[in-house]
Amino acid sequence: MTLLKIARMGHPVLIAKAEPVPDPTAREIRELADSMVETMTDAHGVGLAAPQVHIGKRVIVFLAPEERAAGEAPTDVAPLTALVNPTWEPLEEETVLGWEGCLSIPGLSGAVPRYKRIRYQGLTPQGQPVEREATGFHARVVQHECDHLDGVLFLMRMTDFRLIGFNEELRQYMMKPEAETPPE
Ligand code: NI
Repeated sequence: MTLLKIARMGHPVLIAKAEPVPDPTAREIRELADSMVETMTDAHGVGLAAPQVHIGKRVIVFLAPEERAAGEAPTDVAPLTALVNPTWEPLEEETVLGWEGCLSIPGLSGAVPRYKRIRYQGLTPQGQPVEREATGFHARVVQHECDHLDGVLFLMRMTDFRLIGFNEELRQYMMKPEAETPPE
């Protein structure tokens, strides 16, 4: 495992479409996923996509910890997961605004509309198929990481640019402690 350098907004790899992985269980993909987990954990993140470490392949790692879940729904949480060639679809039309940050856009957060309930699927680098329903923060992190595979950053999904700011200011003035939802 290796700590990888994280690309920051402005690097072209972050706005390029990532390539599908032909052999999801290849040793290099397992090693990539392990290094992405190490890099994400070191950076105190909860999600990371391969383009963020300068690798244009469709690999993501993420977790949806209990402390980020707004409610009690089991679909709100997910263990640390690595997925190759993930896909997802919304299960209902409804979207919700929530705060997001990104390791490639350090220091800033913005309120982004995301689908409330989705289903996603993919293969782990160990060859296990994963198919899950996700809600709340879990649904949000999966949509955010999958967006990275298509060269989309959370800023590009924002609909109200008043709801972006530096974390220190937002924490003081806008984010409630329990804080999924930005002020109207
Ligand atoms: Ni991100």
